[in-house]
Amino acid sequence: MNATVTQDSPQTTDKFATLNIPGREPIELPILKGTMGPDVIDIRALGKQGYFTYDPGFVSTASCMSRITFIDGNKGMLLYRGYPIDQLATKTNYLQVCYLLFKGELPDKEQYLDFENRVKHHSLVHTQMESLFQAFRRDSHPMAVLCGVAGALSAFYHDRMDIYDPEHRELTAIRLISKMPTLAAMSYKYSIGQPFIYPRNDLSYAANFLHMMFATPCEKYTVNPVIERALDRIFILHADHEQNASTSSVRLAGSSGANPYACIAAGIASLWGPAHGGANEACLRMLQEIGTPDRIPEYIARAKDKNDPFRLFGFGHRVYKTFDPRAIVMRDTCHEVLNELHITNNPALKVATELEKIALSDEYFISRNLYPNVDFYSGIILNAIGIPTSMFTVIFALARTIGWISHWNEMQTVKDSRLGRPRQVYTGNPVHNVKTLRLPRH
Ligand code: CMC
Repeated sequence: MNATVTQDSPQTTDKFATLNIPGREPIELPILKGTMGPDVIDIRALGKQGYFTYDPGFVSTASCMSRITFIDGNKGMLLYRGYPIDQLATKTNYLQVCYLLFKGELPDKEQYLDFENRVKHHSLVHTQMESLFQAFRRDSHPMAVLCGVAGALSAFYHDRMDIYDPEHRELTAIRLISKMPTLAAMSYKYSIGQPFIYPRNDLSYAANFLHMMFATPCEKYTVNPVIERALDRIFILHADHEQNASTSSVRLAGSSGANPYACIAAGIASLWGPAHGGANEACLRMLQEIGTPDRIPEYIARAKDKNDPFRLFGFGHRVYKTFDPRAIVMRDTCHEVLNELHITNNPALKVATELEKIALSDEYFISRNLYPNVDFYSGIILNAIGIPTSMFTVIFALARTIGWISHWNEMQTVKDSRLGRPRQVYTGNPVHNVKTLRLPRH
C-alpha cells in the first residue's frame, strides 16, 4: 500500500467505511490518506447512488487535495510547504515565503534575487488605472475600492492570460504580488485626498509599501527598520491558511476557468467579512470601544448572551482549538513595535492583555476552545504603525494574494479539479400548479 498522496490521483488505503442505509445494499466508501492529517472518506460515489451529504460551512468536507499548507488545529500547527510558521516568520522574508508558496520550495540565493527582481519590476500599474480611482467616492471603504480595481486588472493585463500555460500563470502571480501593494496604497492615498506615490525599487517589499502609504511629494519618508520587519512578519503570517473562506472562493471562481484577476477579486470580497479578514478591523474597534479594563466583564457577558449577536472579535477559529500559532508570533511582534515607538501606555493593548487573561480562565471560552487568533494583536500593531483601521483588511488581502494565486495555480495542475458545484437539501414548496391571473385588458 502506498499512502503517499500525489497531486494527480488521491491514494487509497486498504480501508473502507461502510455506509448502511435501511433497505439498501451497504455502500463501501474508500478511505484516503494524506501526508499528514486525518484520513478522509471518499464520498464521490454517493451522488451516483442517489444521495448527497449535508455539511453547512463545509466543516467535515475536504474540497480538494493540496500540497501548499497544513494545519493541525488541535496542536496549533501551521506549515507552509512543510515549514513551521514560527520559523518562517523569524528566519525568512515575505518574498521568500511567496516563492515558497508558489513554487513549492524556498529559493536559493540566485533564485531569490531573480524572483525579487521580477517582482520589483512589475510594481507600477497602468497609468489609466489611476482614473478608475476617481470614479469612487472619497469616503468609500478601501476594501470596496480594492475589490473593484483588483478585478479591473483583468482588463489591463490580458496579454498573458492562458490559464493552461505555466509561464502565463507565473507571470500573473508575479504581477499580482507586485501590484497589490501599489493598489492598496493608492486606495489609501485616494481616501485621504493625497497624490499617489509611485513604488521605489530600491526598497524591500514591506518598506516600499510603507513608502507608498506615508511618503508625500513634499517630504521624504524614512522607513523604520523595526516597523518594516514587523509589517513583513504580518505579511508572512497572513500569506496562506489552507481552504479558508476566501481561498475557497478563489478556487470556486477559478473552477469555472474564470480569469485569475477576477478570481482574486472574489477572494477579496469573501475576505472582507468580520468573521474572516474583517475581524482585525472589528477587533481594534471593539478594544477601543471597551476602552478600559474595568468594562471587560460587561463585554464578556454580552459575548456569552445567546440573544446578543456580539462576539469577541479576535477570538475563536474554525480550525484551531488551541492558540492560533500566528497569534503567538503576533503578540511578540506587538511588544517589539510598541517598545520601538516608546508607546508604554497603549489603552487597546492594556484592554487586550486583560481580556485575553479573563477569557482564557472563563469556563465559557475554555469549554468552547476559544483562544486568541491572528487578528487579536495585528490591529494593535497596525494602529501603532499609523495605518488607519479601514486599511487593516486591505493589508490582509495584500498578504493573502500569494496564497490565493498559489491555490489557483495548483488547481490548474490537478487532474481531479472539476467545476465546483455543491448540491442542496431543498426545503421549499413541493410541485404545485400555477393559477392564471385574470388581468384587466388595456
Ligand atoms: N465570541 C463568543 N463566542 C464565540 C466566539 C467569539 N468570538 N466564537 C465562537 N463562539 C461560540 C459560539 O457562539 C458557539 O457557541 P455555542 O456552542 O454555545 O453555540 C461556539 O463558540 C462555536 O462557534 P461557531 O460559530 O459554531 O464556530 P465557527 O467555527 O463557525 O466560527 C469563527 C469560527 C472564527 C467564525 C468564530 O469563532 C468567530 O466569529 N470569531 C470572531 C471573529 C474572528 O475573530 N474571526 C477571525 C478568524 S482568524 C482570521 C481568519 O482566518 O480570517
